[in-house]
Amino acid sequence: MQHTLQVELKERSYPIVIGQDLSYGSLVRQALPQVQELMVVTNATIAPLYLEKCTAMLKAEGFHVHQVILPDGEAYKTVDSYMQIMTALIEANLARDCALLALGGGVIGDMTGFAAATFNRGVAYVQLPTTLLAMVDSSVGGKTAINHPLGKNLIGAFYQPKAVLADLNTLDTLPPREVSAGMGEVIKYGMLYDADFFTKLEHIPHLDAICADKALLAAIVERCCAIKAEVVVQDEREGGIRAWLNLGHTFAHALEAFLGFGTWLHGEAVGLGLLLASYLALQRGLMTEDEYQRVHHLVAACRLPTQIPEAMQPQDFIAAMRHDKKVKGGVIRYVLPLGIGRCQVFADVADDEVCAMLAAFKAHKGLR
Ligand SMILES: NC(=O)c1ccc[n+]([C@@H]2O[C@H](COP(=O)([O-])OP(=O)(O)OC[C@H]3O[C@@H](n4cnc5c(N)ncnc54)[C@H](O)[C@@H]3O)[C@@H](O)[C@H]2O)c1
Repeated sequence: MQHTLQVELKERSYPIVIGQDLSYGSLVRQALPQVQELMVVTNATIAPLYLEKCTAMLKAEGFHVHQVILPDGEAYKTVDSYMQIMTALIEANLARDCALLALGGGVIGDMTGFAAATFNRGVAYVQLPTTLLAMVDSSVGGKTAINHPLGKNLIGAFYQPKAVLADLNTLDTLPPREVSAGMGEVIKYGMLYDADFFTKLEHIPHLDAICADKALLAAIVERCCAIKAEVVVQDEREGGIRAWLNLGHTFAHALEAFLGFGTWLHGEAVGLGLLLASYLALQRGLMTEDEYQRVHHLVAACRLPTQIPEAMQPQDFIAAMRHDKKVKGGVIRYVLPLGIGRCQVFADVADDEVCAMLAAFKAHKGLR
């Protein structure tokens, strides 16, 4: 079982292949017909699970395979790890005709993409995402980055991969909490773009166990990738509608920053962020009570947080959101849902309005 979508970006177009037991070797060969030297970038958690099998498939296609194994975690999405990749490339005498392979979740994918964008002024790379979040979101669209101690993803580039190869079987080893985090982004796609997809998610009986049902999982990953591809094709560098993909993220980044990055997983913060964006939309008359309840129900069904942490006050959100890199000219721009299946960017939301919404949400525990 294998399905291919195409991201249509003229000379930067590439396939997204979704399936089980993917033949990484031949698929990478199709994506990189001229390449001999490959650097696989992965981490210490993923390497023992998938590196050997992946390397064997690549060697069988005639690739000369090198590897760099980084420490695991967002805390290592740093200039030091980036330098470790550069050092490995230089020590292996690789040049502009080599390519990089990102075997892992969004952290590995973002760092590898940035390394590919900058090594020898740009070499090819392929994404082999192994988390649900990376499959539905971070591996597609060409946003690459590393963190700076003063903020997340502040150093990066728009740089598209040559292919995205999502083997759903790799999700069998993903911890349940990481699966839930990926579902945060999945719900986002339904809310911002596709009401039917949202309804389909609502009808799945055990959302917290979707990895067991590969056909369902494939359908979910395919729809999310198709939506992301559609949005990115229209607005590759986030001048317009790509901002919709940030639905829930302004609140999410504030939660992550306040709690300390890594306390909540990104997708967990997105889950509550979607709920807060919906609460604000409800208060503005952009969403009905019933639609809000549906979002609340789906976020809870995916075992994502539905409460603002006790210690975090409305002003803490505002302070953190003011530091977000998406603030333009001092104005915090909010992506808010218009019912379910559509959204819009608003630049007219005053801090007082947001504080009042957050205070009401806290007081009623997000319930109506
Ligand atoms: N580029 C983009 O458009 C974009 C979009 C969303 C998020 N991101 C970035 O993605 C990152 C988050 O990605 P993530 O949620 O994949 O986190 P992650 O890469 O840290 O992976 C989560 C955890 O799962 C482990 N893991 C990965 N695959 C596994 C597997 N198959 N089996 C067992 N364990 C596995 C990892 O080692 C890690 O411990 C953040 O840095 C965020 O900024 C980027």
